[in-house]
Amino acid sequence: MNSFEFFTPTKVIFGRGSIENIREEAKKLGKKGLVVTDKGMMKCGLAEKVITYLEKENVDFLVWSEIVPNPRDVDIEKGAAYAMEQNIDYLIAVGGGSSMDTAKAMGALMTNGGKCENWYEGNLEQPIAPLICIPTTCGTGSEVTHESIVNNTKTLEKDCIWGPMVNVRVAILDSEMLDYLPGKILSSTGMDALTHAVEAYVCKAASPLTDAIAKKAIEMIGKNIREAVQQHTPEALDEMMAASTMAGMAFGNSDVACVHSISEALGGLYDIAHGVANAMMLAPVSRFSVKGAPEKYAKVAECLGVDVQGKSTLEAANAGIDVMQKLADEFQIPHFHELEVVNPRDFDRLAETAANADETEDNPIVMTKEDFIELFKKLYENKEI
Ligand SMILES: [Fe+2]
Repeated sequence: MNSFEFFTPTKVIFGRGSIENIREEAKKLGKKGLVVTDKGMMKCGLAEKVITYLEKENVDFLVWSEIVPNPRDVDIEKGAAYAMEQNIDYLIAVGGGSSMDTAKAMGALMTNGGKCENWYEGNLEQPIAPLICIPTTCGTGSEVTHESIVNNTKTLEKDCIWGPMVNVRVAILDSEMLDYLPGKILSSTGMDALTHAVEAYVCKAASPLTDAIAKKAIEMIGKNIREAVQQHTPEALDEMMAASTMAGMAFGNSDVACVHSISEALGGLYDIAHGVANAMMLAPVSRFSVKGAPEKYAKVAECLGVDVQGKSTLEAANAGIDVMQKLADEFQIPHFHELEVVNPRDFDRLAETAANADETEDNPIVMTKEDFIELFKKLYENKEI
């Protein structure tokens, strides 16, 4: 067995209605808080829920609602400067991965100084400012991971502020936050969670601890994603909320792999939503990778409810990948060749970025730049992988 480390410093509070815990948890972290969220959260009333609790409790706080999808370094630096000007002690992120990642990166600059670009080497010297995360999607797992993905406006690539200093104090998982989430966002973020769990499980950095969590998360997502998207039942939303955090815990202690290498390259260059890019690439990349870990992909199939009896390992594995593609199609995730922004002239650049991504080396079969180009060409021409 490979040697491994497992690190989960975040207190997780789970349950419908558990958002009310913000009252006590906020007061433990300092005198003045900053709610980090986006305009959509302000409009739809989810940020308001948190704000109301804080007001009732007479907590001193301000709101920063300048979050945008695929957060850029310059926006993070602006947010951190504001927090420091206002003598903020701690942060409360309300939103999806963009809000949580922005809050983590802002927290890193608040305690370590400098700009985002100074901290891409896992070199933070101080723990980030105390942070409570309240996810309002069920996808990124950012509430328990030790990284913040940053859009580098100089290179148009995604960089990452990471390491044990990027540590969320409290994650409040309240599936009531998902009650009114549009099906389209629920499905794409849910597919992101599935991608995290699958990649954490099949990749070379997996350990028995992450395997156990990842398999359970795959099973929970496989059983509940449709019901959550189509009917928003509290039971299915609970399962998706928990599974998303579990998937985050798994890949945060294992790794992701080449689905993410590609989706981050696509997100950096074309600003494609992370969950959509992952959902689109999960099955194609798995087809490329399956021979590197056939038993594991066969287990994924079982977790997704495939009857594997009488099937060879590879047949079972491929049946599981078919389920992934079916889910993406049911959720109307576009295929690569249907994306208008994609230009074959960019393939070289996208492949270069994907090949250089840290997670690429942990894919069951390490993909070279040429492999990525070949994959892009086949997908662009709508050919079989
Ligand atoms: Fe992801």
